[in-house]
Amino acid sequence: MKLIDDLGDLRGKRVLVRSDLNVPLDGPEGDKRITDDGRIRASVPTIRRLVDAGARVVVTAHLGRPEGAPDPAYTLAPVATRLGELLGQDVAFATDTVGESASVTVAGLADGQVAVLENVRFNAGETSKDDAERGAFADQLAELADAFVSDGFGVVHRKQASVYDVAQRLPSAMGGLVAAEIDVLRRLTEDPDRPYAVVLGGSKVSDKLGVIDALLGKADRLLIGGGMVFTFLKAQGHEVGKSLLEEDQLDICREYLRRAEEAGVDLVLPTDVVVAPEFKADSPPTVVPADRIPADQLGLDIGPESGKAFAAALADARTVFWNGPMGVFEFDAFSAGTRAVAQALVDADGLTVVGGGDSAAAVRRLGFDENAFGHISTGGGASLEYLEGKPLPGIDVLS
Ligand code: 3PG
Ligand code: MG
Repeated sequence: MKLIDDLGDLRGKRVLVRSDLNVPLDGPEGDKRITDDGRIRASVPTIRRLVDAGARVVVTAHLGRPEGAPDPAYTLAPVATRLGELLGQDVAFATDTVGESASVTVAGLADGQVAVLENVRFNAGETSKDDAERGAFADQLAELADAFVSDGFGVVHRKQASVYDVAQRLPSAMGGLVAAEIDVLRRLTEDPDRPYAVVLGGSKVSDKLGVIDALLGKADRLLIGGGMVFTFLKAQGHEVGKSLLEEDQLDICREYLRRAEEAGVDLVLPTDVVVAPEFKADSPPTVVPADRIPADQLGLDIGPESGKAFAAALADARTVFWNGPMGVFEFDAFSAGTRAVAQALVDADGLTVVGGGDSAAAVRRLGFDENAFGHISTGGGASLEYLEGKPLPGIDVLS
């Protein structure tokens, strides 16, 4: 796999960098504020390195999931501004991705200058399932550059033009962020120090099936919280009131419960739950046993007893991977479970990895020092797919 150094002397060369700048934004159109700039900060070292090498750096990235056409709600303009602040230099912004504005902006770059192209998903070719359509768009992107650096770890599981096809059209290399992320994930899959504990949360079981399946043979302990846990509790025969429930996943949850027992994997579920009548920040919270959720309430966090039990199950772990919040951490009254797990990772010895967008944003929002964790991944879906053992198109194309 080629690294940036393998691309040779980059002075004066136009280098297209695919970064993952998909950050959460808040506020009205035209005045959007970035609520967590972690992914932009994580993208800076590779961009700065190219700047220092004298390259003319052209950054391409997506924001959200626009429908393949320009949509002002998803403009990357505020992200380009923030990138400039973090880099400490002006960043030019092209108002399209491969059109007139992009050509003029790229042509205007001097050595060591940086431009950001408008949201790559404003072009239908980017996410097209049709190889020819994607390829035609990748041809246009490739015309803007002499070399390509793949540094958007959060999108390497997507077979998209700016991730996959463009790498087939230009001399390409892996950026520092992607290299660092892959390095950590490899340590989780190849002979991890034991006990190896995995904490999974987030709202949907259906998003986590593959990873649970893969981990049942590998992890020593599997802790489950978040919205997805109610499908497990229901599968155990408990009533879950108005909590999130994926009826169509009950059978598979039952099968996983059975397989965990067979494989001797310690499957840890909450024994108490924080419930409230409504999904609202000020809905009055009550703690109830996990097998006695009232019919008119929904679970919004794991309870305090469970928080302690989860922390205890992580205390002597030598490797921990965590993906997905334990509750609705955005609401203070339902953030304690997520906080307890984050603190347990901080306290654990050994390799601790926070996987992905929501959990990474959660630890920062809850005020934890990022350096207290072994690694905070910038990719949720990408790191889960890696752990599942699925091929990652954006990585495979580089070798
Ligand atoms: C993410 O936020 O998960 C990544 O940026 C990828 O975005 P996507 O899930 O819309 O492809
Ligand atoms: Mg995603």
